[in-house]
Amino acid sequence: MRIGIVGAGMIGSTVAKLWVDAGHEVRLASRHPNELKPLIERLGTRASSGTPEEAAQFGDVVMLTVPLTAIPELAQELAPLLGGKVVLDTGNAYAQRDRDIARDATLNPEGSAGWAAAQFPKARWVKAFNTVYYKTLAKEANRQGDRVGIPLAGDDRNALEIAAQLVRDAGFEPVIVGGLARGKEFEPGAKVYNTGMSGQDLRKVFTKQPSPGGEVTPSA
Ligand SMILES: NC(=O)c1ccc[n+]([C@@H]2O[C@H](COP(=O)([O-])OP(=O)(O)OC[C@H]3O[C@@H](n4cnc5c(N)ncnc54)[C@H](OP(=O)(O)O)[C@@H]3O)[C@@H](O)[C@H]2O)c1
Repeated sequence: MRIGIVGAGMIGSTVAKLWVDAGHEVRLASRHPNELKPLIERLGTRASSGTPEEAAQFGDVVMLTVPLTAIPELAQELAPLLGGKVVLDTGNAYAQRDRDIARDATLNPEGSAGWAAAQFPKARWVKAFNTVYYKTLAKEANRQGDRVGIPLAGDDRNALEIAAQLVRDAGFEPVIVGGLARGKEFEPGAKVYNTGMSGQDLRKVFTKQPSPGGEVTPSA
């Protein structure tokens, strides 16, 4: 699959390597795409760099992995390009880093992913890869036994399934928690946040706190 990754920092570059290793093609973007050349050389021929616009056009699926403060500006440029596409949002709201935007995003009834998704009205939004520290992602991918779990939330069933497959391809166990609003259950401060819990253990936690219309898939 062709995957655009907007943001080539800790998460973007780590997950890019896992997907390239799994056979996907990735285009990584930042505001300084020329500075990504050494990273692209390390990743090999299935990786390329470009502007955020180029990554958004390239990807059948697009991961947005930037600080929340970048989202309003990126939405102006990318929202028209992302209509109908699956977007994986790794964002977390941190008051120290994101200031007023963190407050707005946290107060949104659908959490920070709902806050971001509202700025890309036609994209098929999935909250993904936001709970696990990037070094854990790099170290624990494809481990033997119970794999590290990646909780997912979104309102589009097909988009969730595509996201779940990409989580598996990266070497982790997807746990579909439910609609986008349930993303609040795995934001900073939540019990499961930054624990590196296995998929099995995550599923136990989410099954104990079901919400109307929500679900936890037994083996997704
Ligand atoms: N680090 C983790 O372990 C971790 C884990 C889970 C979730 N998260 C969340 O995932 C998101 C990304 O985190 P990160 O740690 O990977 O961040 P990071 O290392 O600071 O990287 C951010 C990337 O975004 C790019 N960027 C910033 N503003 C941009 C803009 N306006 N347009 C395009 N690109 C822009 C930066 O490149 P340029 O400056 O060159 O543009 C950089 O490549 C955050 O919301 C974070 O809270 C992080």
